[in-house]
Amino acid sequence: EKGTYPHFMLKEIDEQPFVMRRIIKEYQTDDTKLKLDADVRQAMKACDRIYIIAAGTSYHAGLVGKEFIEKLANIPVEVHIASEFSYNMPLLSEKPLFIFISQSGETADSRAVLVRIKEMGHPALTITNVPGSTLSREADYTLNLYAGPEIAVASTKAYTAQIAVLAILAVDTAQAKGLELDFDPMQELAIVANAMEVLTDQKEAIEELVRDNLGTTRNAFFIGRSTDYHVCQEGALKLKEISYIQAEGFAGGELKHGTIALIEEGTPVIAIATQENVNLSIRGNVQEVAARGANTMVFSMKGLEQDTDAFVIPHVHELLTPLASVVPMQLLAYYAALHRDCDVDKPRNLAKSVTVE
Ligand code: F6R
Repeated sequence: EKGTYPHFMLKEIDEQPFVMRRIIKEYQTDDTKLKLDADVRQAMKACDRIYIIAAGTSYHAGLVGKEFIEKLANIPVEVHIASEFSYNMPLLSEKPLFIFISQSGETADSRAVLVRIKEMGHPALTITNVPGSTLSREADYTLNLYAGPEIAVASTKAYTAQIAVLAILAVDTAQAKGLELDFDPMQELAIVANAMEVLTDQKEAIEELVRDNLGTTRNAFFIGRSTDYHVCQEGALKLKEISYIQAEGFAGGELKHGTIALIEEGTPVIAIATQENVNLSIRGNVQEVAARGANTMVFSMKGLEQDTDAFVIPHVHELLTPLASVVPMQLLAYYAALHRDCDVDKPRNLAKSVTVE
């Protein structure tokens, strides 16, 4: 039930701090180890490469998950769009492990890949919000997202839950492999939960940004580098999906290779800047588009902010910034849709779970 909320989407955005805390509780044991099935741990340890398969927002979570697994657990990861993988399968490694990420667990594009790779005899792990779902039943192992039912067509709390569970999985694998880590996922996720609370309390600031910059525009661009680029892709998907504003997420460095030709007087450009190592270069990109008339809005993380930034995100661990930076992106999309009188929870032409290929 929506309760006092006007839309499920807003309710689900607000639930994200609680979902983080539930994930911590569900995956934490009394000692320093994480609560993951021994067979999942074994499958992670035994593989030589991971293939993440997903669609839409879940694919965007996979892009972030790749970074955790590669950086923390030292296993190479490829992330594939399910519907592309089916028709153009890459060369597989000797001991692949497939990870399916799906909120609903019913996405037909992902299932088609699962059926194929099971025929080939490869192991599969499904990360889903619906443990009894098709993808969960047909895979060898399941990790639950514990996000609670997601009703709005636009996925919000499932995306952040997917990223949190992928971080826990990566750390568990690193521990199982005896790798040295100075990253405590539970402690860092607790900090994220608090940051999310601060962020969801800033709805008025976001609504004002929308009123000033996205009220009548036909298009909008999101730019970021490294981890921020993945969140830009998700921010753009959210915006186009529910507000029907044509939006694209671009890697900052790619602007000069073509995209910058799109910038006109007043074009809204949202930049995400949460990573210290690319802060200067993304700032350079912001100046380049501003010099061509773009209406720039920088969303930076505390510690990297500049006076002219539109919004400052509370500080969280640099690996987990998507969990914080995506929240204002979700709210931007929400208020843009609201201001344009769009059906927030049920955007045109879309279904919550896509059970056809
Ligand atoms: C976007 C959105 C979709 C889904 C995609 C995959 O807001 O909800 O892009 O992420 O259809 O769905 P699941 O995760 O159920 O496999």
